Amino acid sequence: MPNVDNRTEKTLAELGAHDPLSVEEEFRKVRQRFDRQIALGADEIRNLMLEEVWVGSDANPVTSLRNFWVGRKAGVLTLITENWLKKAPPSLKATVGKQFNELKIHIEAGLEARRQQTEAGTEEAALGRERIDLSLPGVKRPVGSHHLLRQVFQQIEDIFVSIGFSVVEGPEIETPYYNFEALNIPEFHPVRDDMDTFYLDLPPSPDGRTAASPLLLRTHTSPMQIRTMEKRQPPVRVIVPGKVYRRDNPDATHSFVFHQVEGLAVDADITFCDFTGTIEYFVKQFFGPGVKTRFRPSYFPFTEPSVEFDVSCLFCGGGGASAGGGTCSKCKGAGWIELFGAGMVDPAVYGFVKYDPKKVSGFAFGMGIDRLAMLKYGIDDIQVFFQNDARFLRQFP
Ligand code: FA5
Repeated sequence: MPNVDNRTEKTLAELGAHDPLSVEEEFRKVRQRFDRQIALGADEIRNLMLEEVWVGSDANPVTSLRNFWVGRKAGVLTLITENWLKKAPPSLKATVGKQFNELKIHIEAGLEARRQQTEAGTEEAALGRERIDLSLPGVKRPVGSHHLLRQVFQQIEDIFVSIGFSVVEGPEIETPYYNFEALNIPEFHPVRDDMDTFYLDLPPSPDGRTAASPLLLRTHTSPMQIRTMEKRQPPVRVIVPGKVYRRDNPDATHSFVFHQVEGLAVDADITFCDFTGTIEYFVKQFFGPGVKTRFRPSYFPFTEPSVEFDVSCLFCGGGGASAGGGTCSKCKGAGWIELFGAGMVDPAVYGFVKYDPKKVSGFAFGMGIDRLAMLKYGIDDIQVFFQNDARFLRQFP
């Protein structure tokens, strides 16, 4: 703690105090200095600590002052003990000792009085702030509601939980292994182009020896198929709601962040019939009994066979024509709308999680929740989900 008035950093001999009177004079100067400082206002003490005394002065001015004067390591009293008391010639020891004790008592008393004064002031100010004015009108807190996407997640979870699925969640930041490789999508597989994503540019690991392993924002919830099977033995029945990311240009049906619900059921004897039955049950529960469904062949590296699942167009009733007579703009006249991809888990995937493909079978699906919500509630632009416009949100209390 450097001391601008550095008299206490010198010995009494260096200050020219060779007799009791000049020793007393030195102590008097110290005492005056203390009295000046203890009488300063809080801001003045702060400035003093910053500009004159030492770096890192405490935010509380009284504590700073205490440290400066009686701090054990380099407080003024410690300096006096080291430089004046211990180094005093035997003839002056008694005078220095007596002066020191008096000064110490004076400083301790001054600091304590100042502390009490500050505390009382702070308490009074706090009481003033807390006093309640009963004549003021109350604060009306607006009541919010769940976002429509959260409501849809809840509906989907309720349906699947009612037929024996449990809900698990997983990381949005993934390794390429879980997002691709363990799902039977090796490096340079063309499917990766459709799932182009955001890679994280991380610094090397703290030990500096290994480069940080590449991490990415997951492109789908399917990595949780692997993570779940690594942790659990069959039977497995889970759904995985969550956010996913792709480098897709935003338009009415695409967003670079959107939501999926993954489904996975693996057991000793799960068949394609179990799969279609489960999906059809879900769709009828979610959209209502009137909706028609169909499966079309498709391709995913981690399911075999793979399908796309369509529902009859909820806007035109499946006829393909709009109310005005033209072509339905939502299904483009097809009468069907694609809902999600699915299939029977590819045996190659079981190899990554050490399941025996001869003993188990199962199905998986991945639904785009934003598009599901758009269909159910007649929303024609996916972007409204992310714009936080209260006029939109209020329609779904
Ligand atoms: C997948 O993501 C697979 N993981 C699904 C799957 C899981 C198949 C399990 C088999 C077994 P796909 O890339 O088709 O598949 O995306 C699934 C759904 O996400 C799409 O049907 C669509 O509803 C939605 N989706 C895809 N890209 C976007 C986007 N940019 N914005 C909004 N929704 C999207």
